[in-house]
Amino acid sequence: MSDVSAERNDRRRHVPRHIAIVMDGNGRWAKARMMPRQAGHRAGAESVRQVVEAAGKMGVEVLTLFAFSSENWSRPQEEVSVLMDLFLRTLEKESVRLHEHNVRIRMIGDRARLSRRLQEQMASAEALTADNTGLTLVIAASYGGRWDLARAARRMAQDARDGQLDPNEINEQCMTSYLSLDGLPEPDLLIRTGGEKRISNFLLWHLAYAELLFVDTLWPDFGTDELHAAVDAFAGRERRFGMTAEQVERVGRA
Ligand code: IPE
Ligand code: IPE
Ligand code: MG
Repeated sequence: MSDVSAERNDRRRHVPRHIAIVMDGNGRWAKARMMPRQAGHRAGAESVRQVVEAAGKMGVEVLTLFAFSSENWSRPQEEVSVLMDLFLRTLEKESVRLHEHNVRIRMIGDRARLSRRLQEQMASAEALTADNTGLTLVIAASYGGRWDLARAARRMAQDARDGQLDPNEINEQCMTSYLSLDGLPEPDLLIRTGGEKRISNFLLWHLAYAELLFVDTLWPDFGTDELHAAVDAFAGRERRFGMTAEQVERVGRA
């Protein structure tokens, strides 16, 4: 086997089932080029295309992208509009292509705050791709981990009130089933581009045991090579899930 294919093979064995990404740094990318922030967001959309394609080829099962947080509503109105418009146009343009690549699209976040048109486009992209069996692409828009947890609590309380849920049966598995990523494996790897070392209210519940990788690369500069490098870094981590290293080795040998 050539070195290159051996390396690729090794990577495949350690590919995370679920990668979540905080796509940060668009504004700084644009500023460094004396361009308006929106140019950074447009360039960022191109990175999304590359990374989705590369993740699918690597055999990643789920890719969750943080596109717009609950807190991003506080940005200047003009920037919010630009982002929503870009989101709508990208979804319109890319849905069919993603469908042809067997990608299943899923949206998480507070949809009620999005425009009617965007809500409709999201629903139609989800419906079109619902039966696809390749990569599941989760787009987090108007999403916050705290929003997700509060919504879960509200829905559990409603179900308990209606006699559909026994409060004594609420455990971690039950909680998970009320949260947005229900039915999907937990993220194994969280990548944040743009150099900041924080979660910014992303998947608070689900990141409990994710490996965290913070890279300085700004999102518009992040592409296939950077994703491969991230997965290689992940492959070098030892995930212990609370056990001792010796226990983990024993499990690994079995
Ligand atoms: C990430 O890039 C995109 C969104 C949050 C929507 P930013 O716009 O946060 O870029 P920086 O952090 O200002 O460089
Ligand atoms: C996080 O980036 C949200 C997204 C990438 C969608 P921000 O740029 O909003 O995060 P903060 O404000 O620096 O924490
Ligand atoms: Mg930012």
